[in-house]
Amino acid sequence: MSTSGTSLLKGKRVLLGVTGGIAAYKVAHLARLMVAAGADVRVVMTDAATRFVGPDTFAALTGNPVHTTVWDEPGTVLHVRLAHEVDLAVVAPATANVLSKLAQGIADDLLTSTLLESRCPVVVAPAMHTGMWDHPATCASVEALEARGVTIVGPVAGPLAAGDEGMGRMSEPEEILAAVEAVAARSTELAGRRIVVTAGPTHEPLDPVRFIGNRSSGRMGVAVAAEAHARGADVTLVLGPGAVTPPAGLHVMRVETAEQMRDAVVSAAKDADAVVMAAAVADFRPERVAEGKLKKEAGPPEVRLVPTPDILKELGESKGDRVLVGFAAETSELEASGRRKLLAKNLDLVVVNEVGREGTGFGFETNDAMILTRDGDDEPLRTWAKRELAAAICDRLAKRFG
Ligand code: PMT
Repeated sequence: MSTSGTSLLKGKRVLLGVTGGIAAYKVAHLARLMVAAGADVRVVMTDAATRFVGPDTFAALTGNPVHTTVWDEPGTVLHVRLAHEVDLAVVAPATANVLSKLAQGIADDLLTSTLLESRCPVVVAPAMHTGMWDHPATCASVEALEARGVTIVGPVAGPLAAGDEGMGRMSEPEEILAAVEAVAARSTELAGRRIVVTAGPTHEPLDPVRFIGNRSSGRMGVAVAAEAHARGADVTLVLGPGAVTPPAGLHVMRVETAEQMRDAVVSAAKDADAVVMAAAVADFRPERVAEGKLKKEAGPPEVRLVPTPDILKELGESKGDRVLVGFAAETSELEASGRRKLLAKNLDLVVVNEVGREGTGFGFETNDAMILTRDGDDEPLRTWAKRELAAAICDRLAKRFG
């Protein structure tokens, strides 16, 4: 809960989505806590949720009508109205079913249609039996939602429905409230800021079908873009080929080569407050691109490589007030190499990744990395989930702009 004494939810319009799990009875208490914190709570229940708790309970607690179907307000497009009028959405309890629908973009009831239309920050509090929580389908849904910037609270281990025990119990309402308050606080931290983020590899063509590339998946850059967007920034994502799908709400510029990435970044950076270069830009490209497919019969081609533009260096040379964040992919002497790049490219912050080991960095879910900054707000080498590292970068951007 807020430690400052001023509620972070005061005046916020919160959509509370209740889905069909026994933990729905505890969500009545969550609704009460959010109202007490000053939020204007609008409840949407699925059909299944109404079998656990009656809509009148939530109507009495929130002072607002509770909606259960898209047809509740003939004459208005209810899911669109709700989607646009709320500042934040919470789904509690969130069943495996609703997680999967949100991950897939299925909109077959009022709650899922509203959340598909909305671009507000979303917090979900899963609750289900252990087998459902551990199922690869649920794991994939949770991963997809996290990659889009959705905050997942819990679940925790403990007593479940039908007298069972295990992982899958919904977090307590007070804990969900704390997460909702944290998201509310974060959601405006970068409001009014324009941030350019790059993600993914570049492909440097050899002929019409072949290229020189690297193993970057784009996850790291997309995580930074999603986090900055969740904090209210206006984000332009310059995205290399074959990279992960970015969340809605970003301006996405798709590029293929280092040259194209340079042009996109330089143009987007003109009125940006910060640029975060998480892309793995090729340092070299083939000097010549063959017009036709290189023939095997002609023998191995001799390929002369020439340097690509160093985008970050160019940005550093005309830095002005813009905050510049770089990444450094290193296999040895991490700190020394990182400090060299911080100075050589005129950066404010560099994330130094240890790469070349199985399980971390290029293409994986985690990064073994340290953060080095000009102002000493450093973090030693450790393993980070990419979204956690993205949050640490955005914390520093917010401090810088604060
Ligand atoms: O995409 P993922 O699978 O999630 O993997 C994430 C990542 C490992 C690719 C990412 O965390 C990362 O380290 N990105 C930068 C990789 C890299 O190109 O490092 P570098 O040390 O070669 O380059 C240093 C910096 O200069 C980088 O910010 C890079 O974007 C930038 N650069 C590099 C070359 C170039 N021609 N222009 C540049 O601007």
